[in-house]
Amino acid sequence: MTKVFIETYGCQMNVYDSELVESILKSAKFTITNDIISANVALLNTCSVRENANNKVLNRVHELKQMNRSLMVGVLGCMATNFKKDLLDNKKLKIDLIAGPDSYRALPNLINDAIESEHTSKPFDVTLSEFETYDQIPAARKEGANAWIAIMRGCNNFCTFCVVPYTRGRERSRSVKSIVNEVNELVDQGFKQVTLLGQNVNSYRYGSASFTDLLFEISSNTSIERIRFTSPHPKDFPMDLLQLISERSNICKQIHVPLQAGNDRVLKKMNRTYTQFEYLALIKKMRQVIPNVALSTDIIVGFPTETPEEFLETAKVCEEVKFDHSFIFKYSERPNTRAALKFPDDVSPKEKTRRITTLIDIQKKHSLEKNKRWVNLTQEILIERVDNERIIGRNDANVLVYAPKKENQNPGDIVKVEIKKATPHGLQAIF
Ligand code: 5AD
Ligand code: SF4
Repeated sequence: MTKVFIETYGCQMNVYDSELVESILKSAKFTITNDIISANVALLNTCSVRENANNKVLNRVHELKQMNRSLMVGVLGCMATNFKKDLLDNKKLKIDLIAGPDSYRALPNLINDAIESEHTSKPFDVTLSEFETYDQIPAARKEGANAWIAIMRGCNNFCTFCVVPYTRGRERSRSVKSIVNEVNELVDQGFKQVTLLGQNVNSYRYGSASFTDLLFEISSNTSIERIRFTSPHPKDFPMDLLQLISERSNICKQIHVPLQAGNDRVLKKMNRTYTQFEYLALIKKMRQVIPNVALSTDIIVGFPTETPEEFLETAKVCEEVKFDHSFIFKYSERPNTRAALKFPDDVSPKEKTRRITTLIDIQKKHSLEKNKRWVNLTQEILIERVDNERIIGRNDANVLVYAPKKENQNPGDIVKVEIKKATPHGLQAIF
């Protein structure tokens, strides 16, 4: 019996993909283990959005092989393509097999080929597909409150800084019917929340069905209690989508709206296809249609040629919008992206640090202010974890809430609590 150990890096899509891999391997009679010492194979599901992570993964491969000398190590995910090149160029590379994000159905064969050849052949498959959605493969999910479910994969946008269109290929969507069926199965299994995933989740399109149509179907034809989605692009938020979110009690009033930068010249160089004015107009429309909506964002500081004055426009947009939460990154040059090929990475590390610190300080202030709006209100919390004294969950706005534990409270329960205190990082409640 071949025992496989899986380690996941990066975004939620990778977490979900590792669950798909687990499911595919279990169906092919492999055993999944958390114990690296007794494992025969270790699979590293990798991410390449930021940094040159190649070395980190190579070090991890080395470390794992030190812990278990007979271990066979495979690289999955976004870095697979990079390693295929290294594997072909460098025959001494210690990686035994490689599978890209669209090649997981081939994994049982790749693993068996690697084992049978006793390390002499190093099988790989990094073909990108225009069709693969892993439809009909039920992910091997861990128990809990939330289930991830990919509704589309890939990206056609080619933001100039981003490697995703190259590592994950073009957009393709799963059928409405199969997604609704899966959500119904998840409800039967006890999940209370689904998070719909896609590199461009609101670009979903299956036949004539739009993302709004899909959300409507899930919201109306399943009894899932909470629906979230990530990560969207600002270009695909039509009015009917905002109205649906506003009307449906089971669609969370929380939207991620990646800004990336506040200055129009930088936005254009990033190929984001909107201006600061258009972005702010969208935020205004969201707040009009969905009162009290919680908003989060992604920002990159130090994109090539971004001046200190242009950066201040990003800070200005943050001050104006007051996001509930934001993910702020220093620009990290990714090989072969349009930005890497055309623009020098000319903002110094020190200056990037200064800019990120400025935005983090602004965000802390806004997170506290935004979290305070829940104080003295009764909120429904979906419990994610419990320890001896506390329950830890999230309200509809996705803010972490801590409350004293009562008897018979378990992950997956939805309980009402009264919020007493806010910090920039979460909320404290009582019963
Ligand atoms: N450098 C820094 N951040 C990046 N992101 C994507 N590519 C890069 C890069 N090259 C960020 C974007 C995106 C998030 C998932 O990661 O903000 O929205
Ligand atoms: Fe990358 Fe832009 Fe596509 Fe998001 S929309 S995955 S940032 S190219």
